[in-house]
Amino acid sequence: MKIFGIMSDERAFRSKSPEIHNYVFKKANIDAVYVPFCVHELQIENAINGIKGLGIIGVNVTVPYKQTVLPYLDIQSDEVREIGAVNTILNKNGKLYGYNTDASGLMDVFKGKKIPIKNCTALVFGTGGASRAVLYALKKSGAQTIFIAGRSRKKTIKLADQMSVKGLMINEVNIADLKPDVVINTTSVSAPEESQELSEYINTMQVDKVSQVIDINYGRIYNIWKNLANRMDAEFLDGRSMLASQASRSFYIWAGKQIHVDKYMEPLL
Ligand code: ATR
Repeated sequence: MKIFGIMSDERAFRSKSPEIHNYVFKKANIDAVYVPFCVHELQIENAINGIKGLGIIGVNVTVPYKQTVLPYLDIQSDEVREIGAVNTILNKNGKLYGYNTDASGLMDVFKGKKIPIKNCTALVFGTGGASRAVLYALKKSGAQTIFIAGRSRKKTIKLADQMSVKGLMINEVNIADLKPDVVINTTSVSAPEESQELSEYINTMQVDKVSQVIDINYGRIYNIWKNLANRMDAEFLDGRSMLASQASRSFYIWAGKQIHVDKYMEPLL
């Protein structure tokens, strides 16, 4: 039996990844198990060494450790180096390889859902780790103009500089002026109870026609980004598509076996 898992703090127990990977293992008759690893921040190095020591084939890494684990990897993919974050570790021949399937997973979503990113104008909300993966995916997929909107001026300017995109403050965003084709939320806020302030801003923002809104979060009963999509007559996708795509990509890295993203989507529907 092969062992896989997800490394995080106590959030490991709330991750959907064990559910979707174990569902696929069962459906595809794969002799494997995927477990949550709740790791204290002072135990990161031991935990990473444990991957090698215990012969675990691969793990996903999620918030808050996507950057913390970087120094302990033997080899980092180009994406990991550019994004500065890892979400997939492969243990092969005694070496640990780091990949980022958040970005490649989103690129698969663009392709799979036929979202025309090439030459588009994109507006990305949020300046955290997820934002970096989204900006990378947009650039790789050929977006022409990319704006990022953050609440901290310092963080926004720094990220805009690093990723060579245009930065602005959330309260300066005017969709009618920017004319984005695609809007992507990477902040942790998708419902009014998570931030009254951001929700009110998004819900009352002047809008224009936009073709696609994507929220990297999911599971909200009322979603402010979905509401924005409705107001702009845009298509809407929540974070489940990205989660399913990154899971499929991660398994391909670990096992060299391609399992269709729809299989990963099934337990999320
Ligand atoms: P991740 O690394 O997964 O992106 P994160 O670092 O917690 O997670 O980032 C979440 C993003 O949501 C950040 O850009 C955060 O803004 P700050 O960097 O200024 O903290 C953003 N965010 C969280 N709550 C927000 C709010 N109420 N309004 C606007 N942005 C918010």
